[in-house]
Amino acid sequence: VPKLWKLAQAIADQVDSNRSGIGHEAQFAGHRANLTREIRARAPAGGGGRLCLLGAGNANDVDLEDLAAHYREIHLVDVDAEALGRASARTTAARRRQLVLHAPVDVSGIFDKLERWAVTPPDAPTLAGAVTTAVDEVGKTLPGPFDVVVSCCILTQLQLVLLNVVGDQNPRFDDLRAALNRIQVRSLAGLLAPEGVGLLVTDLTPNNLFPLDDLTPDTDLAALMGHLIGAGSIIYAAHPGLLSAEIRRDPELRQHFAVHFPVGPWIWHNGPAHTFLVYGLEIRRLKTSPSGPR
Ligand SMILES: C[S@@+](CC[C@H](N)C(=O)[O-])C[C@H]1O[C@@H](n2cnc3c(N)ncnc32)[C@H](O)[C@@H]1O
Repeated sequence: VPKLWKLAQAIADQVDSNRSGIGHEAQFAGHRANLTREIRARAPAGGGGRLCLLGAGNANDVDLEDLAAHYREIHLVDVDAEALGRASARTTAARRRQLVLHAPVDVSGIFDKLERWAVTPPDAPTLAGAVTTAVDEVGKTLPGPFDVVVSCCILTQLQLVLLNVVGDQNPRFDDLRAALNRIQVRSLAGLLAPEGVGLLVTDLTPNNLFPLDDLTPDTDLAALMGHLIGAGSIIYAAHPGLLSAEIRRDPELRQHFAVHFPVGPWIWHNGPAHTFLVYGLEIRRLKTSPSGPR
């Protein structure tokens, strides 16, 4: 299979996956209610805030009408312009005026390099430079700073593209996986206004790793999350310890950002066959921190 075909295919798969979400909006109801509540709870008082949703897709996982009542502007960002068009078309004309669509935008900032790296893996300085460039590019592409930035279950999608295009036999796979996480965390943080809040929401465990569909309604999901992490029954890249370490272990970032998890967790029914345990990692920019992308 030609390498170029692989990335085009990976993006086409995202578009197909978003198309396959059409008609399954009702199944997202619980996830949508949880995510919308968490985003609404972080809206600045007065309704004048700016919200940015990374990986907004069809916007099945948020209630845009509700959020538009609590934010002045909502920026929807995705690699799939068609999905954002569907999301926007579902809103009322009055609320649509508050939406700003950004597509196609690659929030990984490195998709264009993956095919080259699959053949010639980057050395450490090249990869570190690419992370800085990617965060800068995402920051320049989007009109931040925002009061609230949400990564809408995009992290594992990015990691899946890495797996499909570069493959886990690549000698630098671990470093590339870590680099993708670093870009996500830093981009989110870099887009925040002073006292702004980022929510990196991610699926952690799919139902093929744990029988999530058999849980009783009174299950303590926070305890289950701890158990699943301890047992290793998670998508490795979505480990909250790994993601939060991107702030905690960075001498500069930890002066300017506070990190907290888990927000949630909750259950996401993504269509008829896929169920996930989902949680959020909150990244809050401290008052004294300089604003703007870094
Ligand atoms: C799991 S879906 C999230 C569901 C989506 N919010 C919805 O309700 O339809 C992840 C989204 O991330 C988008 N995505 C994947 N890779 C991306 C990238 N590199 N840059 C921007 N968006 C991307 C996909 O197109 C998809 O819409």
